[in-house]
Amino acid sequence: MDHFLYRDGALHAEDVPLAAIAAEVGTPFYCYSAATLLRHYRLFDEALNGMEHLVCFAMKSNSNQAIIRLLADAGAGMDVVSGGEYARARAAGVPGNRIVFSGVGKTAAEMRTALEGGIRQFNVESEPELERLSAVAAAMGSRAPITLRINPDVDAKTHAKIATGKSENKFGIPIARAREVYAMAARLPGIDVIGIDVHIGSQLTELAPFEVAYRKVADLTRALREDGHDIRRLDLGGGLGIPYTRSNEAPPLPRDYGDLIRRTVGDLGCEVEIEPGRLISGNAGVLVSEVIYLKSGEGRDFLILDAAMNDLVRPSMYDAYHDIVPLREPAPGAPQQPFDVVGPVCETGDTFARGRELTALAAGDLVAFRSAGAYGAVMASEYNSRPLVPEVLVQGDRWAVIRPRPTLDEMIARDTVPDWLDGAGA
Ligand code: LLP
Repeated sequence: MDHFLYRDGALHAEDVPLAAIAAEVGTPFYCYSAATLLRHYRLFDEALNGMEHLVCFAMKSNSNQAIIRLLADAGAGMDVVSGGEYARARAAGVPGNRIVFSGVGKTAAEMRTALEGGIRQFNVESEPELERLSAVAAAMGSRAPITLRINPDVDAKTHAKIATGKSENKFGIPIARAREVYAMAARLPGIDVIGIDVHIGSQLTELAPFEVAYRKVADLTRALREDGHDIRRLDLGGGLGIPYTRSNEAPPLPRDYGDLIRRTVGDLGCEVEIEPGRLISGNAGVLVSEVIYLKSGEGRDFLILDAAMNDLVRPSMYDAYHDIVPLREPAPGAPQQPFDVVGPVCETGDTFARGRELTALAAGDLVAFRSAGAYGAVMASEYNSRPLVPEVLVQGDRWAVIRPRPTLDEMIARDTVPDWLDGAGA
């Protein structure tokens, strides 16, 4: 459930008409609903009731300072994958002991920053990373708390670009070698082994792959304890999918996911962490855009918007489906016609949808891409020298710009021309 609904014929974010924001901020812009973000976070938090747990929001899905602050104030931890995300979490006031650091390529500098600033744990993905982390921590006179990310070789049944738990993926340590690598970790002076981590992919619409993976984690926990490791924390990753269309079957609910966790690892007495991103932020955001032109092609009509693939890359990158809805509510039963919905970028790939059935739209009309709160603004670029679109947060009847649109001058001023270039091209 989200808080983007038609009221009095106009699409609202909570109590604010999106058209009113568009009139002040201009288009395109991202708009997030605080109530939806908090609701989704709390669903996960409640789903893990009865177990010691921490819900760590996957900041890669949306890392705006205001969003991080909102969720952290509600009690969330953060899952970060770079020094940049770590710095963002700290800047938003998240204490180090609520930040977990994931990712296959952490640098020594990133490790040092996290150890200095405080960290809940590193999720380590390889032996070389383990050695480097040990060296960095030991040189600082400390020990880094770690889990090892295990690759359980499970098919997450999701898009190939976002599946991570198969043996051919770059992620984690093959489960068959886990005991050997844990033994190595236990011998390293700068390492404190505390648990196991697993993450098998994103936008999972079935629970079965989680169940297979978590059962493997439970077995491994027992085996590692027999080997003498004090396994006391399980990071079970993120990945629960969201409904991108209103018509398709609803993915499993956080409550069912929580029950599955209790069933598979609940008897181990471990503290549980999860790292959801998309389910918290995805349906808590929309991208609002204006129709620039309606163009008739050969047997098809193009709806040319002022948003493009650089603002929302998911359709061109993963063939992802996003609902596109007019800000002005269509009359019930209004006839629909197929449109190819495209942006102004000079690439055929700048296509949001082909043959999408929409009610009649004209230049100047506003539309919203739904489910754009996760992997939307964070994946945006300035391709074609289009400035990053602004972000807005709504709570009740209040709203604020939480990232302004850069001016063209600001965008250009980031480049520098060296003195010695003057005349060099003459
Ligand atoms: N934890 C780890 C270690 C991850 O790699 C990810 C996502 C998550 C948590 C959060 O997964 P979520 O709950 O959001 O599914 N850009 C792609 C999605 C990439 C996901 C990468 N990892 C998209 O737009 O679909």
